[in-house]
Amino acid sequence: MQIKNICCIGAGYVGGPTMAVIALKCPHINVTVVDANPDKIKAWNGPLDELPVYEPGLAEVVKEARGRNLFFSDDISGNIEKAEMIFMAVNTPTKTEGEGAGMAADLGYVEACARDIAKHSKSDKIVIEKSTLPVRTAEKIKEILEENSTEIHFEILSNPEFLAEGTAIQDLFKSDRVLIGGHETESGQKAVQALVDIYTNWIPKEKILTTNVWSSELAKLASNAMLAQRISSINSLSALCEKTGANIDELSKAIGMDHRIGPHFLKASVGFGGSCFQKDILNLVYLCKYYGLEEVADYWHHVIKINDYQKDRFAQKIIDHFGGDLKGKSIAILGWAFKANTDDSRESAAIYVSEKLYNAGANLLIYDPMVSQKSINRDISFYWNISPKLSQDRIRVMNEALKLKEIDGTAILTEWTEFKDLDFGNLVVFDGRNILKESNKIHQIGR
Ligand code: NAD
Ligand code: UGA
Repeated sequence: MQIKNICCIGAGYVGGPTMAVIALKCPHINVTVVDANPDKIKAWNGPLDELPVYEPGLAEVVKEARGRNLFFSDDISGNIEKAEMIFMAVNTPTKTEGEGAGMAADLGYVEACARDIAKHSKSDKIVIEKSTLPVRTAEKIKEILEENSTEIHFEILSNPEFLAEGTAIQDLFKSDRVLIGGHETESGQKAVQALVDIYTNWIPKEKILTTNVWSSELAKLASNAMLAQRISSINSLSALCEKTGANIDELSKAIGMDHRIGPHFLKASVGFGGSCFQKDILNLVYLCKYYGLEEVADYWHHVIKINDYQKDRFAQKIIDHFGGDLKGKSIAILGWAFKANTDDSRESAAIYVSEKLYNAGANLLIYDPMVSQKSINRDISFYWNISPKLSQDRIRVMNEALKLKEIDGTAILTEWTEFKDLDFGNLVVFDGRNILKESNKIHQIGR
């Protein structure tokens, strides 16, 4: 099947960069990204230094492809109608109400996409799950797509995204693997081939793995769970290092040199953040419970519990250092993003550590080189459930590097390179990302 027009629903951290790269690598295909949020579309069409997603290398890709065969539009219906292939790259957050609240994935946005596709399609479509979804979601999507029409054929594929924020463009250029799940019918396999043909424009064939739909859906959740599990494993050991005098960096190195284990994702930290690890593991836990696998659910749930323990333990370490009370103490929070090289702060460890310090009485001075003051204030009111106005007397969000002399202590919560070069003088520094060299003024995780 010859694909001439692709439509992607969802212009966020996944939809924007993935489609920009597909457009760059496939100049013979028109790629249009649509979104329900017109401001986001406006920003994607705006100046390259103000794109709605900050990713190293993204602006260059958009510069080359935008207007040539990459388009951003708020005309959802028109672009669905025109495309032969439609990606769904909308958010799938943890449900906040109803059955499975606090654990299951909220499929409302994906279901709304499916309803839009059903409504506006006038010809056969390949519909692709790009969002991270619970295993067997394709069944539900098929039901919605076929509710009103049996004349149009919808073929559903699963093609989960494995990019990490901050390295999205290089991850997309050189993926470890591209996973495509399709049904084992003739039309299913034809659709798989159509998507394989797109990726082979830049991904070597041996890196494209085709499976059935359910394996592909589940492999995405399982991959994130395994990555997060490694972080929780090393973080749990950092607590034991603190008790015994072992050094967590030395431990990571020694463990990672075993080729069966490997060196990646063994860096102790104040805890993983980001929009996906926690929500995807909770989703996995919910699925296990749904299928009556309580022991399996408990096993994975502990990955999250250790992560919460690590964030809490780090904040408590700071509080204990100052004698259990932070009233009148000013603490600088360096970094708000959940990792370096992104402007994304969703579920960032900084949010939780800062809240605990604030509740212990601290005055906070917050600085991040990429997360805007507006986003930090929004996070405080959303995650802490207090209005930024109420907290204004004790929180200052800075838009430039801090005058570190005016404060009592510093907590480094994102591993931005610029923090490595700061002169901390005599300040007490709590390094939650293990980025500073050892010194007796620095309290690192695991020391
Ligand atoms: P996001 O919140 O950045 O973007 C989602 C976009 O979808 C938003 O702009 C929203 O306005 C739009 N949207 C929602 N419902 C819509 C609808 N019915 N019609 C049109 N637009 C709609 O989310 P994201 O970070 O890009 O994540 C998307 C999915 O990809 C999630 O399932 C996530 O788990 C998965 N994922 C994310 C990453 C990542 O690094 N962020 C990596 C791999 C996979
Ligand atoms: C993660 C996965 O790495 C991607 O493959 C996946 O596509 C994505 O989730 C997703 O599904 O959203 P991301 O969350 O963007 O990507 O970033 P990571 O590099 O995985 O970092 C996640 C968190 O773990 C960060 O807070 C990071 O600081 C922390 N981390 C990472 C550690 O604490 N230690 C490590 O050794 C590695």
